[in-house]
Amino acid sequence: MEEVLALLEKKKQEFAQTPFMKFLRDKSIDPRQRLAWAPGFAPFAMSFKDFNRVVLRKEPATSKLQEMINQHTYEDGRHWIWFIQDLKLMGYDYSIKYTDTLKFLWSEETQKVRFLIYNLFAMCTFEEDILMKLAIIEAIEATGTVALFEIAQVGKELQEITQHHHPYFGESHYAKETGHIQAEMDDVEHFIKSIKLTEAQKKKAFSLVEKVFADFTDALNEMSEFAKNHPYDKPFTAIYDIEKMQVSV
Ligand SMILES: [Fe+2]
Repeated sequence: MEEVLALLEKKKQEFAQTPFMKFLRDKSIDPRQRLAWAPGFAPFAMSFKDFNRVVLRKEPATSKLQEMINQHTYEDGRHWIWFIQDLKLMGYDYSIKYTDTLKFLWSEETQKVRFLIYNLFAMCTFEEDILMKLAIIEAIEATGTVALFEIAQVGKELQEITQHHHPYFGESHYAKETGHIQAEMDDVEHFIKSIKLTEAQKKKAFSLVEKVFADFTDALNEMSEFAKNHPYDKPFTAIYDIEKMQVSV
């Protein structure tokens, strides 16, 4: 797995330079607007719970690695609770029509976010080689540390406005992410590095890592586009709708 970890380091550098990350770092934009994509991220944040519980977790574990994956799922599979708490704190917990909610969650503007989670299910559900699942988890965690670091910087600015700690978008979430599978072990990185892959496994792991990064890049870039088109205090209304309304008034 050593070469997989080396590829992850390279991918992390690239990932830190995506349009989404640049958008988050743009202090000329109100921090609330830089996080205005939060409601649109729901398909991923909520389905990630199922991905951990249903796809990755296998109980009882029949190997050390599966035991580690199970431990990881107990941590990562509960972060959706923080997402819900943050949406409330950000003022998004009000009623809209159920059918409008469905249209919003399955809209064109959030489709890359859905594809991201669909593809993770597709890659893992029938994968028999646990090392491929480990490579996918490591890739998810690598994207997570980069994205959550940048998000936490905006979260700090948001906290100054709301006077609330934000469990999903704040620093505590970033602090929870180690960048690797979260298992009870002293030196996880060393353990992963020491796993030997065949040439065929290496080739497959590389392509899975590339796919995970490509999908996270697309999904998060979609989110910064979403934030550019939706006022943070009216996330379910597109800016062009408001413009239309103003013209017709
Ligand atoms: Fe998380």
